[in-house]
Amino acid sequence: MARVAIVTGGTRGIGEAVSVALKQAGYKVAANYCGNDERAKAFTEKTGITAYKWDVASFEECATGVAKVVADLGPVDIVVNNAGITRDGTMRKMGRANWDEVLDTNLGGCFNMCKAVWDGMVERQFGRVVNIGSINGQAGQYGQVNYAAAKSGIHGFTKALAQEGAPKGVTVNAIAPGYIDTDMVAAVPANVLEKIVAKIPVGRLGKAAEIARGVLFLVADDAGFVTGSTMSINGGQHMY
Ligand code: CAA
Repeated sequence: MARVAIVTGGTRGIGEAVSVALKQAGYKVAANYCGNDERAKAFTEKTGITAYKWDVASFEECATGVAKVVADLGPVDIVVNNAGITRDGTMRKMGRANWDEVLDTNLGGCFNMCKAVWDGMVERQFGRVVNIGSINGQAGQYGQVNYAAAKSGIHGFTKALAQEGAPKGVTVNAIAPGYIDTDMVAAVPANVLEKIVAKIPVGRLGKAAEIARGVLFLVADDAGFVTGSTMSINGGQHMY
């Protein structure tokens, strides 16, 4: 039986590439999204993958959304916590709401989704959780105290939950992407982005498919000895 995977933020950017790669590898995939109905519709038309709308920042919506996926596809074996937002700004300009939004979505979303699937994974003695962190959670980034804190939190969350899952056949790993060619990175001012790309040893932005490749490795049935790890995929920008 094909394993069932949920990818949060799975209809655009890195999440879209992950959803498609998982489907191509034979998994049954549910792609979660929150805001952009038009893009989600186009994604489903293009890929044949059903898109499920809920906000990962909401504990209740995650529980209801996961229950719907279970009813449609079966018990969830794999969760890729990819949904994330930016609200960049220097400390002087950052309001409390920008802090809350980013923490609630990027880090709270991991907790909410894991809560919704964890007991089932432990009972069935199999699970794969992949949390998408960031180079900016490892190294920090000017103008991103909210995002860096949330992503850094993801790396701690991963190492803690991995210890709980290890004896139960549930692995929990993180990927720390560098700057990837997505809408999120395209929103960085061009003059700032140019300076960032100049510091990437590989000499270019990454591609979403290059992150999906890492996810496929981590979710495989025979990846059971890999847990609590962080895979940095960043073109050599931060070697950590
Ligand atoms: N280091 C030191 N100083 C910096 C700096 C840096 N990296 N970036 C900007 N500054 C300085 C500027 O030189 C400027 O100084 P002066 O006032 O003395 O000239 C000052 O900070 C203010 O800069 P801005 O005018 O750019 O300020 P702003 O408030 O308009 O914008 C900002 C600040 C929002 C942080 C903007 O610079 C920005 O968007 N930076 C990019 C942040 C970034 O990399 N985000 C990543 C998004 S993608 C992502 O997060 C995905 C992932 O996981 C990798």
